[in-house]
Amino acid sequence: MQQVSGDLSIPLDDPRFEKLDSYIDSLSGIDGITMPVLQEAQNIFGYLPLEVQKFISEKIKVPVAELYGVSTFYSQFNLTPKGKHKVSVCLGTACYVKGAQAVLDKCAEALEVEAGGTTSDGLFTLEATRCLGCCGLAPVMMIDDDVYAQLEDVSGIPAIIEKYKKQGAQ
Ligand code: FES
Repeated sequence: MQQVSGDLSIPLDDPRFEKLDSYIDSLSGIDGITMPVLQEAQNIFGYLPLEVQKFISEKIKVPVAELYGVSTFYSQFNLTPKGKHKVSVCLGTACYVKGAQAVLDKCAEALEVEAGGTTSDGLFTLEATRCLGCCGLAPVMMIDDDVYAQLEDVSGIPAIIEKYKKQGAQ
C-alpha cells in the first residue's frame, strides 16, 4: 500500500469529523453510499487522509482497503493535500517535442518539488498533464486557470512562479 502522508495531521476531535458524521447519518438506510460519502469527505477535508478513511470505514462498515481502492481509482479524489496553486505542465506530444520536459524540470527546480508533489509551504502542487488543448501554443503550462504559452525559453519560468508566491503571501 502506498504511504498516505498527512495521515496524522487531523485530530479526531476536529469539528469536521462531526460534520462528516452528520452527513453519513443523513444517508442512513440508503445503499451504495461509498462514493457520495468519499466525495463529501473530500469536500470537507480537501483530501482523503488515512484517518478520514478509517473514520468512514467504521461508520459505513466498508473495509479501509476498499475505500482506498476507490479513492485511488477515481482521479477526483486526492490522498494528499493539494497546494493553493496548481501548476500543470503539458507533456502531450506537441508540447513534448517542443521541450516540455525542460519546462517541467525548470518548474521542479523553481518550486523545489517533484512532479506530483506539493511544496512544503502548501502553496503549489506541480503536475505533469496530458494535452491541455492548445497545442498551437506549445510548450504550454497552466497555473490555476492562467495559460503560459511558447515556453521554449524556460529562463522566465521562475519569475512567473514568483508572481504567484507573492500573491500567496498576501
Ligand atoms: S500537447 Fe500540449 S497543449 Fe496539446
